[in-house]
Amino acid sequence: MKHRILQNGRVLPALEARLAESFDLHRLADKADAPAFLRERGREFVGLVTSAPVGADAALIDALPSLRVISSFGVGFDRIDLARTVARGIAVGYTPDVLNDCVADLAFALLLDVARGVSAADRFVRRGAWPGERFRLTTRVSGKRLGILGLGRIGQAVAARAAGFGMEIAYTGRRPVADAGHAFISTPVELARWADFLVVTVAGGASTRHLVSREVLEALGPDGVLVNVARGSVVDEAALVEALVQRRLGGAGLDVFENEPQVPQALLGLDNVVLAPHMASGTMETRQAMADLVFDNLLAYFDAGAVRCAVPGSAPLG
Ligand code: DGY
Repeated sequence: MKHRILQNGRVLPALEARLAESFDLHRLADKADAPAFLRERGREFVGLVTSAPVGADAALIDALPSLRVISSFGVGFDRIDLARTVARGIAVGYTPDVLNDCVADLAFALLLDVARGVSAADRFVRRGAWPGERFRLTTRVSGKRLGILGLGRIGQAVAARAAGFGMEIAYTGRRPVADAGHAFISTPVELARWADFLVVTVAGGASTRHLVSREVLEALGPDGVLVNVARGSVVDEAALVEALVQRRLGGAGLDVFENEPQVPQALLGLDNVVLAPHMASGTMETRQAMADLVFDNLLAYFDAGAVRCAVPGSAPLG
């Protein structure tokens, strides 16, 4: 008999087809009255497929009393209630590593775009301004100072790209990373004061909320650029908008926002800001690799009792 799996939120159609072939898959989104469905049939599900932006909150986990495994599409797990899963002994799988390169690529694309004005120059040419005006001078990237907030796997991939641009690299985090090969600066404010560009790659969640504070933005200053490919929650967005509008911050490249998909209206008219719709991992190759891992995590759990890539700290209490 096939294991009964609930799907919460959207996943790639090819993954959905694969899941439906191997499991008895039910999509919560198809149910006209999801709470009533969960009340009546919630106890039938042993597995849950979700994604980083959708997650699994305490109410959903509680509505699935037979749940044994969650397989999440994404590296972020700030929307999964791990206190609940640990207490219930539920295994939680996610999709780290396979997206490092593409997220780092996009961080660098945003950094280059803000500094060199690629999107702004494109708008300039398209609106026919070239014959009549000179495009503004932009900011050099090569050889500048890059600060990385959170030198995890994605942060290290950003550092590898920066090395190719001859940049000086430093980072901060909870503690120095062994053999990092880059200078550790102990606080985000000091790192921002040192850096020309500050790239945020730290995990989201309560412990990193507003780590990029008003003080950090002040320290980065009117010539500094912030790039965020982590989570909107890491940056004090109200302070960021104010600093950008008042030109107390040089620029920003943002793939993530505090209330996605809402983007602060004040950012839309700023030429020193490049905006992206939370797409850092969104290449065909990477999304396919993530989909494969979502499937493999479930399969490994049902075949061998453990997911292939377990969310740190999610291991059930023994
Ligand atoms: C992730 O994998 O966490 C991405 O940010 C998508 O949410």
